[in-house]
Amino acid sequence: MEKKFARTLVTTALPYANGPVHIGHLAGVYVPADIYTRYLRMKGEDVIMIGGSDEHGVPITLKARKEGVSPQDIVDRYHKIIKDSFEELGISFDIYSRTTSEIHRKTASDFFRTLYDKGEFIEKTSMQYYDEEAGQFLADRYIVGTCPHCGNPQAYGDQCEKCGTSLSADELIDPRSAIGGSKLVKKETKHWYLPLDKWEPVLRKWILEEHKEWKPNVYGQCKSWLDMGLQPRAVSRDLDWGVPVPVEGAEGKVLYVWFDAPIGYISNTKELLPDRWEEYWKRDDTRIIHFIGKDNIVFHCIVFPAMLMAEGSYQLPENVPSNEFLNLEGDKISTSRNWAVWLHEYLVDFPGKQDVLRYVLTANAPETKDNDFTWKDFQARNNNELVAILGNFVNRSMVLTHKYFEGEIPALGELTDYDRQTLDEFKNVKDTLGEDIEHFRFRDALREAMNLARIGNKYLADTEPWKLAKTDMGRVATILNVAMQITANLAIAFEPFLPFSAAKLRKMLNMGDADWNKLGSIDILAVGSHVAKPELLFEKIEDAAINAQIERLERIKQENIIKNFQAEPVAESVKIDDFAKLDIRVGKVLECQKVPKSDKLLQFKIDDGLGGRTIVSGIAKYYKPEELVGKEVCFIANLEPRKLKGVESQGMILSAEDAGGRLVVIGPQGEVKPGCQVK
Ligand code: MF3
Ligand code: ZN
Repeated sequence: MEKKFARTLVTTALPYANGPVHIGHLAGVYVPADIYTRYLRMKGEDVIMIGGSDEHGVPITLKARKEGVSPQDIVDRYHKIIKDSFEELGISFDIYSRTTSEIHRKTASDFFRTLYDKGEFIEKTSMQYYDEEAGQFLADRYIVGTCPHCGNPQAYGDQCEKCGTSLSADELIDPRSAIGGSKLVKKETKHWYLPLDKWEPVLRKWILEEHKEWKPNVYGQCKSWLDMGLQPRAVSRDLDWGVPVPVEGAEGKVLYVWFDAPIGYISNTKELLPDRWEEYWKRDDTRIIHFIGKDNIVFHCIVFPAMLMAEGSYQLPENVPSNEFLNLEGDKISTSRNWAVWLHEYLVDFPGKQDVLRYVLTANAPETKDNDFTWKDFQARNNNELVAILGNFVNRSMVLTHKYFEGEIPALGELTDYDRQTLDEFKNVKDTLGEDIEHFRFRDALREAMNLARIGNKYLADTEPWKLAKTDMGRVATILNVAMQITANLAIAFEPFLPFSAAKLRKMLNMGDADWNKLGSIDILAVGSHVAKPELLFEKIEDAAINAQIERLERIKQENIIKNFQAEPVAESVKIDDFAKLDIRVGKVLECQKVPKSDKLLQFKIDDGLGGRTIVSGIAKYYKPEELVGKEVCFIANLEPRKLKGVESQGMILSAEDAGGRLVVIGPQGEVKPGCQVK
């Protein structure tokens, strides 16, 4: 038996306010949470959805330092961008607040103090790396040094990106600050630790025995953490940005961002419902659901519950439906590499197409494994599903109703077996969809909803009411009544997923609010009521819009390659005599043409001061033949001739290979005679 709950508290991971949100955040957390919440609201349940920006932590301070502004400036900027873009996408938070609010500082500070007073922390002094120039202690990931395993001089204190080994800063050879590059010293510092090991047995029982129904990816990650054994975790940091540690002698120390941020869920509930917030957090008939991404699992399933248990008066979450990651065009989304589709930019590039993004991100949600967003798939799902199935059916039903009945819902006559069979397919939709949504299977739920539109299309195609208009208007009336009831069902079923289009459709149908309980009924639209002239719900997305997005990503990829260029280590030394064996000369390009049947090769006629020679070079991707005619180039004159695609090449033109493999021909910087030697 599943438990009955009196109310539901939905929380969504608080995004860091050091950048805008992207499709990965949306697909992983906010779109599913919004579907879930809208669904419960439509059922008339008591539910609130809590969001907000996570405004503390080291990365925000570093970004501020880099831009020469204050951390508050940074979070003010991104909090606004994030909040506005969520709103425009229709993510229906009951509150979207922030962790720099007064109420949050007090709530987080009091929470710490309660645990402190109860003796729930361990105090420990340790030696940590300190950057004297920046005047601060550094977290492992802000320390660079030489990797003890592969010798990479740019390894980070938490990981070497070259050989992939995870490290601690103590293992680095010659550690330096990643902020200013200065040498580091070790200094003593005191911190407070939450002894997770103390909570391990309860956590084991709570998760591994009592929550076997959690998604396998979540359950599995929890199990492996628990099996490794839990250690005390520091909940404070030496930093000047955050909630001050409310203990005497803790000057210059703040709560660790992962300690204060989840408390943000509580602070924001308080801000929303100053008198009733405790009902949502402390009564055992509340269902608490945390929507998060997979990198947040340990904090929401282990650390935060341990904090709540240590405090003693809070409920633990009923479920933590974490998604996996969404990739973009085959590569991991990355804020620092700008490899993302940013929500606020999407809203500008595709105005009025909020539902298209919501649809694609749900249809492609990384529910059980990582998934990929591609612009081609985005276009195909819009054109082949939203336009061709859902939009088409709705439009056809409404156009026909206007054509034959001036927009009035016609009376139902006698039903045929086929009508009944079609309507029967609807009977269970409320339960199937509801089951899927309540178990966080949003992709399945969406597919189910789209299936209703498919049934509708098939019904119209099979019954062909336009052929009966001359002979049997009674039958046409029945068919269109059925088609319009299906349309009304779609306006309910799609509300959690496509709220803008569903609202537009309900308006056209004069339907009022969407009531989930009516889903599956075949008398939603009263006979004799009127529907408005249909407007299209979706429109085709043309290649040009998609290609512009793909080109933008290609440019970013190129920029990243150039930004990350690292010169190769210098090759083994050679004797000067070895160098002198090469006869390098300057020549002037007299003619240049493409080598037939090759997209790489150009064939040159070079004035070498000795009557001319032919050279073939693999640079056709980087130059048009006419661009090089008349230019001076350097070439190796004594290379053994060889045949390329049937043409004998008498030497080799020298090029520099740029980041990303682009070849740039090199030549003299002043005027020289063709044939002179390069020494
Ligand atoms: N800011 C974190 C992230 O983006 C998520 C914080 S969730 C909360 O990974 F529980 F701490 F609020
Ligand atoms: Zn390494």
